[in-house]
Amino acid sequence: MRAVVASEPGGPEVLAWTEVPDAVAGAGEVLIRVAAAGVNRADLLQRQGHYPPPAGAPSYPGLECSGTIVEVGDGVTRWRTGDEVCALLSGGGYAELVAVDAGLVMSVPSGVSTVDAAGLPEVAATVWSNVFAAAALAAGETFLVHGGGGGIGTFAIQLAVARTARVFTTARSESHERLRALGAEVAIDYREGRFADIVRELGGADVILDNMGAAYLAPNIDALAPDGRIVVIGMQGGRKGDLDLGRLMAKRGTIHAAGLRARPLRQRVSIVADVESQVWPHIADGTVAPVVDTHIPMSEASEAHARMERGGHVGKILLTTG
Ligand SMILES: NC(=O)c1ccc[n+]([C@@H]2O[C@H](COP(=O)([O-])OP(=O)(O)OC[C@H]3O[C@@H](n4cnc5c(N)ncnc54)[C@H](OP(=O)(O)O)[C@@H]3O)[C@@H](O)[C@H]2O)c1
Repeated sequence: MRAVVASEPGGPEVLAWTEVPDAVAGAGEVLIRVAAAGVNRADLLQRQGHYPPPAGAPSYPGLECSGTIVEVGDGVTRWRTGDEVCALLSGGGYAELVAVDAGLVMSVPSGVSTVDAAGLPEVAATVWSNVFAAAALAAGETFLVHGGGGGIGTFAIQLAVARTARVFTTARSESHERLRALGAEVAIDYREGRFADIVRELGGADVILDNMGAAYLAPNIDALAPDGRIVVIGMQGGRKGDLDLGRLMAKRGTIHAAGLRARPLRQRVSIVADVESQVWPHIADGTVAPVVDTHIPMSEASEAHARMERGGHVGKILLTTG
């Protein structure tokens, strides 16, 4: 098979589409012939040598994929060869074949092409587990999504609107019209540095989905409504900051931070099951749709990474094998 291999840690140019040994399905796993893989910011960090894959995971990047099952390992009962699926991976999605635990595999949601389903597992699992399971965003509450134009942001806006939250978002102004069309009530240009004042004037946010980490710790607490919850999923603005516990306490606020890839397998399997039962119905009824920025051939993975690094994309960047 071929896979995208980083010859050494470095820029996008180190990625090459290369012959490697075939992946093989072990017991409890299925082998997927990959149609497409989603690009995630973690893949950029892995390429730079900052985010090594966990023990036992394939060394190639790729945290999600879609495709067709071509082999079923011992003990797997739900899946058959020929099934069109998508899957949450610990790595290895940038390849023609990938083996994955059968519990991390999902059916392609109704109404979505197999290729575009590649961009759903990571965003759906991240948004569900953080915004709804951990922060318990409820109907009628106000939700602030940072980085609303990204893969996570475009999905979080839609899912929150589908579950009848009021949504505010930060994004560069060029994407505001698209994000309003997805259901965001208010879009704020993060480059103006005023989101906390604007959100506070609007009554504050009950839940904030944060991709910026340290840089937004203080303004997020400013923007929080009483009893609000901040869920930190990214550190694009750094990992260490000053936390004013007095201001957090005055709002009875909560800060939660969680990654997905390093969670124990049983937790990821449980999240994937919740995604299929709680999130897929919103896709099937058309209230949530995959937002795809670009399809790029896997042999040009370096261009896909460069595009994500430049920013300004709206939705998911997908790598295709076909
Ligand atoms: N914890 C987890 O389990 C988990 C899982 C998946 C992803 N993540 C994290 O979630 C974040 C989003 O991932 P993604 O796949 O959606 O990446 P993405 O598509 O590259 O989106 C990142 C977004 O951040 C925006 N941004 C840049 N600077 C900003 C600022 N100062 N304020 C607000 N937004 C800003 C970008 O906007 P412009 O393009 O307009 O600059 C872009 O829309 C990343 O940090 C990623 O590492 C975490």
